[in-house]
Amino acid sequence: MSRIFINYRRQDSEGHVGRLYDHLATHFPKADIFMDVEALPPGVDFVDELEHAVTACEVFLAVIGPQWLDVTDEHGVRRLDQGNDFVRIEISLALKHNKLIIPVLVGGAKMPPPDRLPEDIAALARRSAFELSHKRFMADVMQLVNAIQRALPSRSCKASTSLEVLRRKEAALRDVRDDLVNAINSPLYRYRIDNRYFPVLGEGNADAKIMFIGESPGKFEAEQGKPFVGSSGEVLEEMLATINLRRQDVYLTNLLLDRPPDNREPTEEEVAFYAPFVERIIAIVQPAVIATLGRFAMSYLLAKLDLPEKNDKISRIHGKLIKARMDYGEIHILPLYHPAIVLYSAAQRDTLRKDFQQLKLFV
Ligand code: URA
Repeated sequence: MSRIFINYRRQDSEGHVGRLYDHLATHFPKADIFMDVEALPPGVDFVDELEHAVTACEVFLAVIGPQWLDVTDEHGVRRLDQGNDFVRIEISLALKHNKLIIPVLVGGAKMPPPDRLPEDIAALARRSAFELSHKRFMADVMQLVNAIQRALPSRSCKASTSLEVLRRKEAALRDVRDDLVNAINSPLYRYRIDNRYFPVLGEGNADAKIMFIGESPGKFEAEQGKPFVGSSGEVLEEMLATINLRRQDVYLTNLLLDRPPDNREPTEEEVAFYAPFVERIIAIVQPAVIATLGRFAMSYLLAKLDLPEKNDKISRIHGKLIKARMDYGEIHILPLYHPAIVLYSAAQRDTLRKDFQQLKLFV
């Protein structure tokens, strides 16, 4: 029997569910996903089989699109108000059997209010929902996969090869890059276009355990669309070599994903604009440790995670591993000085080298 049950209304969300199914099938054995009553062998008692399928599942996804509440039959009667509506029967069974129910909102749908639901499924409105947006589909699906994986005892996860995981992450990062390229409302978009610069999403191993977040791309970076290819990059590569790593072993990105004029410091508006992109990158790569390079990336991340060190100065906490939690699990943050510091003060080379040794734990 399948362990993930997808409940949906065909007229409302068929396209979304097809796409969702395809993605889930790359993470879980197909036999573990029950999607269609039509998949039942001919001749079996529908309701019995549904009861079996819902009782056997461990996670019940109730996919809700914009028409979910209001779809009617040919007489204009709302489907949800009919006792033979499969969507309602399945949800009611899942509630009765105390299943983990995750409402999955698609197509911009909102969670239905309890007073618009028949009494036997009114409790659905109290389940916290998960939104699959069109724009961030890959990243959202990955978060949903994580939530399902956490809910299922471990044997359920397909032993997906690391290559599959890598391909999936690379595809998700390409989606983020497309969104970044088209982000014409960015405060740095005009400057990018006027100078024929590229946005700099990031580079490296999309499945890396170690991620670096710098400040912002410089001129060389913006000309090539790659992070850390100038003099700071040379220092960074030198430091990576001290722990036997190359730049392609880690993932490199920045707090700003476009070059600011004259390499000036990031403004609050710029940080606010690029933060959701950076957060998507983190959610996709899912590193075990994020090393921030310089005080801007450090302050942003410590504040975002609301860590006790959020107001500390970099001179106090550089090289200190800080435990934190992300949606996908436990993580460490390692504040580091920006590699450019070595270009101004050679004495700092040893400090940086020493701090980098902390990353050996994650190699
Ligand atoms: N400095 C940064 O912070 N990032 C880069 O990509 C290059 C230099």
